[in-house]
Amino acid sequence: MTTRRRGRPRTNLAKSEVGLKTRIEDRSAIIGVVGLGYVGLPLAVEFAEAGLQTIGVDISEEKVRSLSAGKNYIQDLDNTRVRELVRSKKTLSATTDWSRLAECDVIYICVPTPFTPNKDPDISHIEDATKRVAATLRKGQLVILKSTTFPGTTEKYVKPILDGTGLICGKEYFLAFSPERIDPGNQVWTTKNTPVVVGGVTKACLDLAVAVNGIVIANVVPVSTPAVAEMEKLLENIFRSVNIALVNELAQLCDRIGVNIWEVVQAASTKPFGFMPFYPGPGIGGHCILIDPYYLSWMAREVDFVTNFITLAAEVNESMPFYVRSMIEREIAKQPVRLKDARILLLGMAFKKDVDDLRHSPALKVAELMVDDGIENISYYDPYIPHVDVRGRRLESRKSLTPGFIARHHVVVITTDHSAFDIDFICKHARVVIDTRNATRNVKNTRKNIVLLGEGK
Ligand SMILES: NC(=O)c1ccc[n+]([C@@H]2O[C@H](COP(=O)([O-])OP(=O)(O)OC[C@H]3O[C@@H](n4cnc5c(N)ncnc54)[C@H](O)[C@@H]3O)[C@@H](O)[C@H]2O)c1
Repeated sequence: MTTRRRGRPRTNLAKSEVGLKTRIEDRSAIIGVVGLGYVGLPLAVEFAEAGLQTIGVDISEEKVRSLSAGKNYIQDLDNTRVRELVRSKKTLSATTDWSRLAECDVIYICVPTPFTPNKDPDISHIEDATKRVAATLRKGQLVILKSTTFPGTTEKYVKPILDGTGLICGKEYFLAFSPERIDPGNQVWTTKNTPVVVGGVTKACLDLAVAVNGIVIANVVPVSTPAVAEMEKLLENIFRSVNIALVNELAQLCDRIGVNIWEVVQAASTKPFGFMPFYPGPGIGGHCILIDPYYLSWMAREVDFVTNFITLAAEVNESMPFYVRSMIEREIAKQPVRLKDARILLLGMAFKKDVDDLRHSPALKVAELMVDDGIENISYYDPYIPHVDVRGRRLESRKSLTPGFIARHHVVVITTDHSAFDIDFICKHARVVIDTRNATRNVKNTRKNIVLLGEGK
């Protein structure tokens, strides 16, 4: 493999670390970010804003074209901020030309980690990106993997590819894992003020990764190895998955015994210690909570270990769209219409409130189940998702809701509780509202047409 050495003079072994540390400290280090999505672009923006030259690399020509024109495509980021960094300050640029990584001192890898149709990990994007990073790897570069993955990925999959260049990890080049915690849509906890964990392959790798993260992140937490950092990220997401599953299961029980689960959670939340509220819903979605636990259960099988909590949580959470289907069909059965002729309106298609992310959305799953049941009249309204593909059928979101449009549907389902929804208006005009998010809590007492998940009425 040819190793390109452009831009900076070669350094000897000791100088690799010292030189990089100095460039991090005096902020002359050039930052590369591979994968400019929900994780990569906000990170690149933070570095560019801190005044460091930042080069984003992506395989998507569309994203690179958009950014190069100063156009932002991530909902949480301010358009003006991105435009200024690209056009006026000129600290942020985007390219599909991987050779530009040779200019970078630090390279973050923020590519997707999906699963296969059988729900096994697919780390091919990490491997692909690493191979491309290796093609220009030079002395004094630090590579930080941020994609969520199973323990061992950094040292067993990424490192061997980089070692293949002949450079020595910890001496000539540096490698660390530092998982992302960004919560899209969260206005309080952002890239900057959310602590991050980092694990380096060697002490030098760790020190450098802590130093560079510290430029844009207020609190950097070092751990002993990349595997600890990989595992702690999975623990965070499995913790959420398991607790959401618990409350989803209890919601179904509450439906049978006529107790309001939402009130139960609210009451339990008054305990000042030892309890953290989680809420039921139509299922889990997004790129993290649904997928990440499978990364660990797959890895566990390799050592003859069964992760029962993960499997059980997945079973409960993934059954929720089916449970919502049964709620919808029960309400249709009470009306003088055949199932296939019923008109259904889904409110919210994004996987969670106030975001434009459709990945693994439970609302989409509910729509698919409706199609599977032969229901032809399915409409939806989501100000963030203009259109969706449901089992090969393209559905367009309504531009707005009118009283007549709401009233013509046999059932209206609140699948995502976007703040933009006028809940009182919706409930006023709907025949029946199935609320899977407790969005109707403020109007419930005044309306009789609301069926709340986990209330048992
Ligand atoms: N989205 C989140 O809220 C979140 C939070 C924490 C962690 N993560 C993790 O971060 C990683 C990235 O997630 P994301 O949400 O930013 O994904 P994303 O799909 O929004 O962005 C990934 C970007 O990588 C690009 N890409 C794909 N393959 C590539 C390749 N081989 N080389 C270069 N670029 C490539 C894509 O074009 C895209 O722009 C995942 O591992 C995810 O689990 C995501």
